[in-house]
Amino acid sequence: MENKIKQTNTAQLIIDGKTYELPIYSGSIGPSAIDVRALHKHTGHFTFDIGYTSTCSTESQITFIDGDKGQLLYRGYPIEQLAEHSTFLETSYLLIHGELPTKAQSEKFTKTITNHTMLHEQIETFFNGFRRDAHPMAMVCGTIGALSAFYHDNLDIEDNAQRDISMHRLIAKMPTIAARAYKYSIGQPTIYPDNSLSYSENFLKMCFAVPAEDYVVNPIIADAMDKIFILHADHEQNASTSTVRLAGSSGANPFACIAAGVACLWGPSHGGANEACLNMLKEIGTVDRIPEFVARAKDSNDPFRLMGFGHRVYKNYDPRAKVMQKTTHAVLKELGIKDSPVLDIAMELEKIALNDPYFVERKLYPNVDFYSGIVLSALGFPTSMFTVLFALARTVGWVSQWNEMLEDNTQRIGRPRQLYTGATERNYISINKR
Ligand code: CMC
Repeated sequence: MENKIKQTNTAQLIIDGKTYELPIYSGSIGPSAIDVRALHKHTGHFTFDIGYTSTCSTESQITFIDGDKGQLLYRGYPIEQLAEHSTFLETSYLLIHGELPTKAQSEKFTKTITNHTMLHEQIETFFNGFRRDAHPMAMVCGTIGALSAFYHDNLDIEDNAQRDISMHRLIAKMPTIAARAYKYSIGQPTIYPDNSLSYSENFLKMCFAVPAEDYVVNPIIADAMDKIFILHADHEQNASTSTVRLAGSSGANPFACIAAGVACLWGPSHGGANEACLNMLKEIGTVDRIPEFVARAKDSNDPFRLMGFGHRVYKNYDPRAKVMQKTTHAVLKELGIKDSPVLDIAMELEKIALNDPYFVERKLYPNVDFYSGIVLSALGFPTSMFTVLFALARTVGWVSQWNEMLEDNTQRIGRPRQLYTGATERNYISINKR
């Protein structure tokens, strides 16, 4: 990556009457950043920023979010335009390489990804070691990590060609692993990849076909799946992406790094929120119970939160939520689902919350997960698969960010510091004197 940050100003920091000059850098858009890298060396102080709310961990040229405007750009292109006109594989090319592919580049990339869809057959043995009722995320996390044991022929991260092969393998094999985890969890046989189909069609077939029957992919459903993957493909330095970068900063292999990302994504505050949101909508059950749940969400003594609401960065409507809402309606119409109690509750809940001063003052808007659970459930996925689908799509963002980090020669091993408040030095006490 060619570094493009420019020093545009200087900040002054005064500690004990002494003034320190700190460079201020600007990017192409978005807030500028104060460079504190030399702070400890010159002042002996650290910065304190739990949750990294004011910290840039890196320079990046992949994804931009303006949380106040509700804007999300992949390599400069608005997410709404990509969801409308692009495909997941084209968007993947864009995220990795920085530009939309030409026709020839697109064909070559699609062919490369398609050629890597199969798993080493011994991974089947590996799957058989999981408990029959294992959570699909547990299987995906474990299997992605295990890929490094199967594809160790190309793990030299200093070699561009080997990095490319690993990235292609991850993007291509993720749907196969995700579908395998699903089939295993419901006790059905493996459906092998069908390379005559598109990325999303193939994934749907691997999930929902059975050997005993013909399976025809519905193009409208495949298109919705592709849009959902585009919406989830990247989201700058979120928790799982930062985890991938941190793991990668030590020189760990890409399969290990992506497994770390999958693990981080699993939590209910991150990728697990769509599962939690659908469960919440089902628990609410009827529109008349919404006020009770809104009151609970507002009660500071109650840990309950409206799942699918609020975001660390978006202080406006999450642009992905708008596309997701439209996709939800299209899928329900295509499937002929006229009555959807959860959709009715979601729409009413959204209306109530968007007019409630508690949510307005805190700028809490629906995020991507508010509608995604409804649409994924309509597509036939159980809630335990929701985060897996998120991980599948986000793999593209993770490998793009990991690759960018390795191409950036200003990167160093990630190693935050701490403000220690534990015991000061003391002498060991033998057990009979304690
Ligand atoms: N329901 C009720 N109150 C909320 C909610 C919510 N969903 N989210 C935030 N708040 C309140 C919070 O209690 C706090 O109030 P106060 O200032 O009175 O203490 C204020 O809003 C600020 O919240 P915060 O926890 O400081 O915000 P954060 O940036 O640390 O958390 C979040 C962001 C996404 C974890 C949080 O909004 C949340 O827990 N939302 C529900 C889970 C969810 O939908 N997660 C999916 C995120 S989008 C997918 C992804 O990128 O992974």
